[in-house]
Amino acid sequence: MSERLQAIRGMHDVLPERAPIWQHLEDRARAVIEGYGYREMRTPLVEPVELFKRSIGEVTDIVEKEMYAFDDRGGDRLALRPEGTASCVRAAIEHGLLDQPQRIWYRGPMFRRERPQRGRYRQFHQIGVEVLGLAGPDVDLEVITMTRRLWQALGLADLRLELNSLGDSDERARYRTDLVAHLQAHESALDDDSRRRLDTNPLRVLDSKNPALAPVIAAAPSLLDYLGDNSRAHFEALCAGLDAAGIGYQVNPRLVRGLDYYNRTVFEWITDALGAQGTVCAGGRYDGLVAQLGGRDTPAVGFALGVERLLDLIDTSSIDTGPDAYLVTLGEAAAAAAPAIAERLRDAVPGLKLLMHCGGGGFKNQFKKADKSGAQLALILGDEEVAQGTVGCKPLRGAGEQRSLSFDDLVATLHERVNQRT
Ligand code: HAM
Repeated sequence: MSERLQAIRGMHDVLPERAPIWQHLEDRARAVIEGYGYREMRTPLVEPVELFKRSIGEVTDIVEKEMYAFDDRGGDRLALRPEGTASCVRAAIEHGLLDQPQRIWYRGPMFRRERPQRGRYRQFHQIGVEVLGLAGPDVDLEVITMTRRLWQALGLADLRLELNSLGDSDERARYRTDLVAHLQAHESALDDDSRRRLDTNPLRVLDSKNPALAPVIAAAPSLLDYLGDNSRAHFEALCAGLDAAGIGYQVNPRLVRGLDYYNRTVFEWITDALGAQGTVCAGGRYDGLVAQLGGRDTPAVGFALGVERLLDLIDTSSIDTGPDAYLVTLGEAAAAAAPAIAERLRDAVPGLKLLMHCGGGGFKNQFKKADKSGAQLALILGDEEVAQGTVGCKPLRGAGEQRSLSFDDLVATLHERVNQRT
């Protein structure tokens, strides 16, 4: 026998019994996001490596260590996308979308070669939004308000919002100088990683998870003290908007994010229920990125949520994973009539998930399959029912007697069932 092949470590199949749970999250998220007037954009999974180097930044973990980068057969240097913002901006510039504000959303797989663990995968999925062309704190508030609505739609209560402002580039440059001085004064306490970052990306030291560094980080200057008037006003207006909307948050001056394109507002939604990988959604403002990628100066803000992490949190017990109904037959006339009846039911009840038994077999056996399919209802068609124009209907989950229904009554019952589910 040949050796069996397996999926790549950190990349997972979504099997049919789990797919309805993904669809549930995707459907809810899409309804919420489109409720704010955002429109979907789909971009390729593969882009030039250069795009991510110029946006995420050369000296970030993603670009330095985690990207799936390769030369294709024509010698072009390509990468599987590690995130969606860069592609979205590239596409907006390329297709001339920037002459008016754009509210865009996207979903799909992203690729980072990290060490796999719970909540951290090498192929994972994001749903993201990007607003291009609006500079004010009102739109920062809009995207954060949207995330709150998303958590409500998914039944999630225990997420906390952390917020910071990274200021503008000159403010960050002044901060960086003082931060480096502080870190250098404590250089003996730094680990190798932080020492390396001292020259390349010192703000990332603030993100270190090494407990030995905690006192040095706690004593570091705070970015918020370096904000100029405009950045400060922007941040205060956002905080006031969040207060007015009743959205709780915690200002975390050490929140810096792992991608270089951010300025001003950054935020993360965090849960304590998932261990180390507790950030379920993250984003912020990136006013310099469009120009950096060759477009006209365009302010922007957005976020992306991690689908796998949210799926790990939501209560999936009430999500139906089976069909609404499973049609079984008893007798030859019934077996012959069943396909046409199934089609009539699908015509009459939009959205109905009706599984028709195929492959013959005895009645008992068919019934067992109906139960195993996870269907809510068994529809029973015998020769007698065909002659009378009725169908037997028996609830398979919970209590309920089998009833003999006319075609119209059956349609009404199935409508009810579909409405319950959706
Ligand atoms: P990010 O923080 O790199 O930001 O990723 C956003 C979210 O994707 C994370 O909070 C997490 O939930 C999920 N995620 C990231 N890496 C993994 C992984 N290896 N396994 C599972 N889930 C993961 C961005 O990607 C930015 N593009 C967000 C953004 C959009 N900023 C502005 N617009």
